[in-house]
Formats: sequence, structure tokens, C-alpha cells
Amino acid sequence: MAGYLAAHTTPPSPLEQRLIDETRQMTNAGMQIGHPQARFMAQLTRLLRPRLAVEIGTFTGYSSLVVGQALEPGARLLACDVSEEWTSVARRYWAEAGIDDRIDLRIGPAAETLATLPADTRVDLAFIDADKTGYLAYFEALLPLLSERGVILVDNVLWGGRIADDEDQRADTVALRAFNDHVLGDPRVDVALLPIGDGLSMITHR
Ligand SMILES: C[S@@+](CC[C@H](N)C(=O)[O-])C[C@H]1O[C@@H](n2cnc3c(N)ncnc32)[C@H](O)[C@@H]1O
Repeated sequence: MAGYLAAHTTPPSPLEQRLIDETRQMTNAGMQIGHPQARFMAQLTRLLRPRLAVEIGTFTGYSSLVVGQALEPGARLLACDVSEEWTSVARRYWAEAGIDDRIDLRIGPAAETLATLPADTRVDLAFIDADKTGYLAYFEALLPLLSERGVILVDNVLWGGRIADDEDQRADTVALRAFNDHVLGDPRVDVALLPIGDGLSMITHR
């Protein structure tokens, strides 16, 4: 079914495909989002028309490339990652797409970057896709900044199905389970867990 889904989703552009292919040669290639999810994020970005988007976990830049390309003139993407090496790949593709001037890359732990944002910052779209044990802190830092009709997307919430396997007690699995439970019980938000990619939660103000 995953093959059919991918085959019936608008394919990556030639530039996006080159980034996918280049990342595929890397040892951590599995961290890259899949193309159906990328297309969904690009469409959502077009619909939401965010003035400010925030990404936690940039890697080689696929999600930031598709979101960045879908931004309207004057809109910004704040991209957070700890790796100079992986984001140097992202930078090359942003430049080639002509969107490097709308992306503000911050290298360092994302929790520290988020803490530097002024309290009156308004985030219209956020994407959480970094260290799984940090998800709850990222959500708590982002929610007070989320605009009225803003959306927080959270990746890997199905964790290859291990999320529902109570015998899996590894730290990342336990953190993701706790995150999903927390969001579900949080009276401030509504959550829709979408079975796209490795599971993508879409969170909005209630
Ligand atoms: C799953 S990858 C992101 C994939 C990316 N969104 C894409 O579309 O290809 C996770 C990224 O989170 C970064 N990361 C890990 N811990 C982090 C932290 N504490 N703060 C910021 N970034 C972090 C890693 O360096 C890695 O590039």
C-alpha cells in the first residue's frame, strides 16, 4: 500500500529528487521524510500561508526545502538543527532553489534556540522532527507561540508500529508514547494522528 500511495502522490521535483538521491547515499538516510509526507506538508503550507514557520530537525533539508518553496514572499522559516555537516547539504539545495534568503538556520540544541524567541513571536506552522526525548519540551515551548489558526506537525508518532508494542521500553519509544498520551489529554489542543509516513500528528488549538 505504501508503494501505491507514493506512486499516486505528485512526485518530487527534479531538484527534490536529487536531494533524495544524495541523502540516500548517507548512513543516516532513514531520517529523511518520505515524499508523500513532503507533498502533504507543501500543500498544507500553501493552504496555511504561514508568515513564520519553525522546523525542529532539518537534517539534509528535504522538509525545509518543500516548506520553504511553498512560503509566500516575505515569510520566514526558522530551521533548527545541531549538525553543521548535515545542514550544509540542506544549504546547497536551498541556494539552488533560490530560497536561502527566507530560511534562518540556527545550529544548536533546538530547546535553546526556541528559548531565544521573544514571547510575542507568532508561529503559524511548526514541524517537530528531531530527538524524540525532546518532543514534549518542543511542544510546550511552541504552543504558547502558536497563532490562533496555527498548526504543529509532529513526525514519527507511530515509530514503525513500536508505539503500540508495550514490550518496547526503549527511551525513544517511551518518550513518543508519553508525548502522544500527553497531547491527547491536553485540553488546550486537538490532535489528528495521520497514518502518513511514520505517523504524523497534526495539532491545533482547541
Ligand atoms: C529525523 S532528522 C530530520 C529530518 C528532516 N526533517 C528531513 O526532512 O530530512 C532529525 C534531525 O534532528 C537533529 N537533532 C537531533 N537532536 C537535536 C536537538 N537537540 N536540537 C536540534 N536538532 C536536533 C539531527 O541532527 C537530525 O538532523
